Amino acid sequence: MDRSAPAASGCPFHGVAPNGCPVSADAAGFDAFSGPYQLDPAEALRWSREREPVFFSPRLGYWVVTRYEDVKAVFRNAAAFSPAIALEKVTPTSEAANAILRRYDYGMNRTLVNEDEPAHMERRRALLHSFLPAELAHHEPMVRRLTREYVDRFVGRGEVDLVDEMLWEIPLTVALHFLGVPEEDMDTLRAYSIAHTVNTWGRPSPEEQLKVAEAVGKFWQYAGRVLEKMRANPAGHGWMEYAIRRQKEMPEVITDSYLHSMMMAGIVAAHETTANATANALLILLRDREAWDAICADPSLIPNAAEECLRLSGSIVAWRRLALEDVQVGGVAIPKGSKLLIVMTSANHDGRHFENPDELDIYRDNTTEHLSFGYGSHQCMGKNLARMEMRIFLEELTRRLPHMELVPDQVLDYLPNTSFRGPHHLRVRWDPSLNPERRDPALLDRRADFAVGAPAREAVARHLRVAALRPEAEGVLGLVLEDPRGRDLPRWTPGAHIDVVVGGYERKYSLCGDPEDRRRLRIAVRREAMGRGGSAHIHDAVREGDILRVRGPKNHFRLDEGAARYLLVAGGIGITPVIAMADRLKRLGKDYAIHYAGRARPAMALLERLERDHGARLHLYPADEGRRLDIQALVVAAPGDAQVYACGPDRMLAALERTMAADPGRLHVEHFAAAGTHLEPSVELPFEVELRDSGLTLQVPADRTLLQTLHAAGIDVPSDCGEGLCGSCEVQVLAGEVDHRDKVLGAAERAGQDRMMACCSRACGRKIVLAL
Ligand code: HEM
Ligand code: FES
Repeated sequence: MDRSAPAASGCPFHGVAPNGCPVSADAAGFDAFSGPYQLDPAEALRWSREREPVFFSPRLGYWVVTRYEDVKAVFRNAAAFSPAIALEKVTPTSEAANAILRRYDYGMNRTLVNEDEPAHMERRRALLHSFLPAELAHHEPMVRRLTREYVDRFVGRGEVDLVDEMLWEIPLTVALHFLGVPEEDMDTLRAYSIAHTVNTWGRPSPEEQLKVAEAVGKFWQYAGRVLEKMRANPAGHGWMEYAIRRQKEMPEVITDSYLHSMMMAGIVAAHETTANATANALLILLRDREAWDAICADPSLIPNAAEECLRLSGSIVAWRRLALEDVQVGGVAIPKGSKLLIVMTSANHDGRHFENPDELDIYRDNTTEHLSFGYGSHQCMGKNLARMEMRIFLEELTRRLPHMELVPDQVLDYLPNTSFRGPHHLRVRWDPSLNPERRDPALLDRRADFAVGAPAREAVARHLRVAALRPEAEGVLGLVLEDPRGRDLPRWTPGAHIDVVVGGYERKYSLCGDPEDRRRLRIAVRREAMGRGGSAHIHDAVREGDILRVRGPKNHFRLDEGAARYLLVAGGIGITPVIAMADRLKRLGKDYAIHYAGRARPAMALLERLERDHGARLHLYPADEGRRLDIQALVVAAPGDAQVYACGPDRMLAALERTMAADPGRLHVEHFAAAGTHLEPSVELPFEVELRDSGLTLQVPADRTLLQTLHAAGIDVPSDCGEGLCGSCEVQVLAGEVDHRDKVLGAAERAGQDRMMACCSRACGRKIVLAL
């Protein structure tokens, strides 16, 4: 079949997907190898995120998944979605090309990234050691030294192609060092890697296929030779040497085929990704001078800025899975045997998950939730090495060449393929006479120390000035926050909140101003008599002109604008997100009603504005006037298709949940639960954990995980997914019975009761003893 032509034309539907549904014109037009997807994959799939988030692409022969929740759900479910096709050729090659590959004995097979369970997790855990933060930290001095040497070569020149002269070679050198492979001819390896990418994720023409097959065949042979050399003396520190040593203990887990395939795939995984990600990041940051200047002035912002660039423009934009059963994704039936292209970069631009999704926000505090490293059991093992490299590159470049700029009008070109993305060249220029090191040579010795791992949350906060304070009601203080330099603030959507960090407290407050106003954020803070002091501090100590540290905006209480009717229910200070929703619904011309309960009118915040803007749609229930909000009557009287959004005291939300138990899909409530624990404190039991090696005994409360408790006590246990999928938080259990809740350990391992995943599993009894 000619893959460049649509399957049919002349009607709105170009064919039928394997589940029997007609293929829309947009879906039929989707081309993964040229046109808009190659220019900007996230933008090219905006229509899909909005209208058709799971579609069948006849040209590609894949189902394409573009929304955040759906992409994550596919990654999360390794039982239904196999990674076996992750390294398969997306474009089948000609017999002539295959013959060339056979001549080279090419046998790329299962590695980690394309291995199914349970073999995968057993292998991953056996090989995790080299990726632990303490192990990765050993590579830091080399990355730093190389970066300085490479920058030394061009710093006095005034112009450079960063890709050619730095961004490929350093990650490749680091990758070889990490793997334990002796340094080779860099240009040859770069050519091999590109060939591997084209072979696996591209659409080479028949002539290109022959050339690519030659290079891939040679790459395979090269990988085999290196492996043999290493086998002769596997004493070094590299990951491959470690794997060769582990093979002796578990030959059925670390097979010969694995080692050979991983040698080749590992070289690519470990360097091309990082080179491309850094080029993408520099491009984004240099296009946004304010962000660039901010990281030049304050390098502690670099880790989060790098992460935000990975979100906006990661170097792996899409990945693949195979449906092992008939399954639903985002409500679409996908037949067993279907192939899926899950587009992480589209997910990363999904406004249902990220506020203000298309803009660079180096202060975004949930940017690490991006999916550029995949997610779940296969999530990138090398992500912390990649992060380390990106941070050091950015730090050295911002310190030594803060005045660097992109060479204007350069044409950026990319390798046409479904997945790997980064410009071939990136030219920058500067005036060498202004290099700061000429005035201040001491600057050369400076360095910021970034801990290995995800960005430290403490560093991620924007500083906002309290522009105005005004009482909103009895015991409720309104705050207007602005950027001290008058810059625009991030966009947000109704239901969003910010975290305010002040006086040693961190508290969440819903935004209640106008989302269209880019200069101001408004919150209203009730003084909580029974609270832990955060709100009292804001009432008593915060003054106009003060600078507050603020994280967010984030939105866990998103308004679905697609419904026809809405019932908005607020109790007390719960009115804050609700008023923003009401404003929005009014603007959209929707049918809505607000039901607002409080102690007494003078204590009910934002009344004046509500009455002015929402008059007849507002129903008030001040308790002192004898007006009680009868939840059951309200729900019964509401139209059957009304979506209910509610924020208020637990009692009120619980009553709503009870009343609407038969139809929970229509109820949306604001939960300010502890972030990322998935715990329901009302049903969990607290327990004690004894740490044998540290001589500590800690209490794990019902609303905290074991992992959180260990981290709070300064015990470094690595972790990634936080929900029992990736295996990185395994701890050894010496005594006590474990309530296993992970998806990592097999039945026999669970029965052994000698290990557990600290992020999700708990003790069955009162106490557990760990070897920590
Ligand atoms: C897997 C991205 C750097 C080693 C993956 C996956 C992605 C990815 C998308 C598949 C995840 C999944 O299926 O859920 C990236 C990006 C990088 C990067 C964007 C740079 C910015 C690295 C580096 C190394 C590495 C530097 C090695 C030193 C691996 C390995 C896996 C993997 C071993 C397989 C893990 C498994 O299947 O259990 N990476 N990667 N990656 N990556 Fe990376
Ligand atoms: Fe992933 Fe615990 S299993 S962090």
